[in-house]
Amino acid sequence: MKYRHLGQTGLQVSELSLGSWVTFGVQAEVPAAVEIMAAAYDSGVNFFDNAEVYAGGKSEEVMGAALKQLGWRRGSYLVSTKIYWGLHDGPNEQNTLNRKRLIEGINGSLQRLRLEYVDLLFCHRSDPTTPIEETVWAMHNIIEWGKALYWGTSEWAAAEIASAIEIAERHHLHKPVVEQPQYNLFERERFSQEYQRVYREYGYGSTTWSPLASGLLTGKYNQGIPDNSRGTLKGYEWLHDQLTDKEKLARVAALAPLAEKMGASLAQFSLAWCLQNPYVSSVITGASRAAQVEENMKAIEFTDKFTPGVMGQIDEIFGVEQEEE
Ligand SMILES: NC(=O)c1ccc[n+]([C@@H]2O[C@H](COP(=O)([O-])OP(=O)(O)OC[C@H]3O[C@@H](n4cnc5c(N)ncnc54)[C@H](OP(=O)(O)O)[C@@H]3O)[C@@H](O)[C@H]2O)c1
Repeated sequence: MKYRHLGQTGLQVSELSLGSWVTFGVQAEVPAAVEIMAAAYDSGVNFFDNAEVYAGGKSEEVMGAALKQLGWRRGSYLVSTKIYWGLHDGPNEQNTLNRKRLIEGINGSLQRLRLEYVDLLFCHRSDPTTPIEETVWAMHNIIEWGKALYWGTSEWAAAEIASAIEIAERHHLHKPVVEQPQYNLFERERFSQEYQRVYREYGYGSTTWSPLASGLLTGKYNQGIPDNSRGTLKGYEWLHDQLTDKEKLARVAALAPLAEKMGASLAQFSLAWCLQNPYVSSVITGASRAAQVEENMKAIEFTDKFTPGVMGQIDEIFGVEQEEE
């Protein structure tokens, strides 16, 4: 495993990390989560991503119980969680980044995770109804109280990130240091265009999500939706269109010979492609079983095989004229 600095912070994150969305508390209970996390940790993964809303809070409970069983030294791993949607209906309990919600949110997450602090705390989306200044102050306080060590944003507009940084600098508060955006072969525009300024000008880090577009980029949906896959899960029917999109499937099929030539599986190839972008700090992978982790972590072996020629062939398949850095 290799490690990158999280933007301009001193914190080092493994190039590949592991998240628990859809899997923990839905497909994987504690014993499976222990296996999945152990496979990642044994490959050098030091960062585990979660969110209060995943499986309605169960994902944090499962990760907390797994961490307890695994008994790793706290200094050897990083845990993140994310707050925004909330776990209950009603004013101040959902879709907000107000001070009350953030402080009650982190307290609930720490309880479920059985941790004294999370290493990274993300605002899971932006909240246009709460002044950014209120959110920045609450996140600053959470860090000052030792409940989180760093904070960041997820899918905020670049202008909102710039505003939060500017407010924090003006008041000498802890500023956000990392964005969590989607980034994969299909979804790269926002990362490569809108966020350029925050990466370049503010040294913002990034922990990127859905690197395999929910599994589409493994090639396993090319013959239809396979059993025991995310595409079969109740509650995730909204993913069907994407997983059965003929144009997307054709692009995945066209990638296969490039991956094969490299000696990589399509999953490894697609993960290694994400790491070509120097503004990626860590690619958050997902896995419903340990065997997938074992396959995916080997993606690291292919990161230096993406010559300009290969990158050009990939861009041609995805109809991208010229990939901006
Ligand atoms: N900030 C945000 O808004 C946000 C949003 C989404 C995700 N995230 C984070 O990003 C993490 C990763 O996202 P993701 O789970 O969507 O990642 P992904 O890599 O796009 O999809 C992971 C899923 O693909 C399948 N898969 C993975 N490796 C495979 C392999 N080698 N062979 C066959 N199938 C394989 C597994 O599903 P099946 O086995 O069930 O098919 C696995 O759960 C999440 O856990 C979460 O931490 C953040």
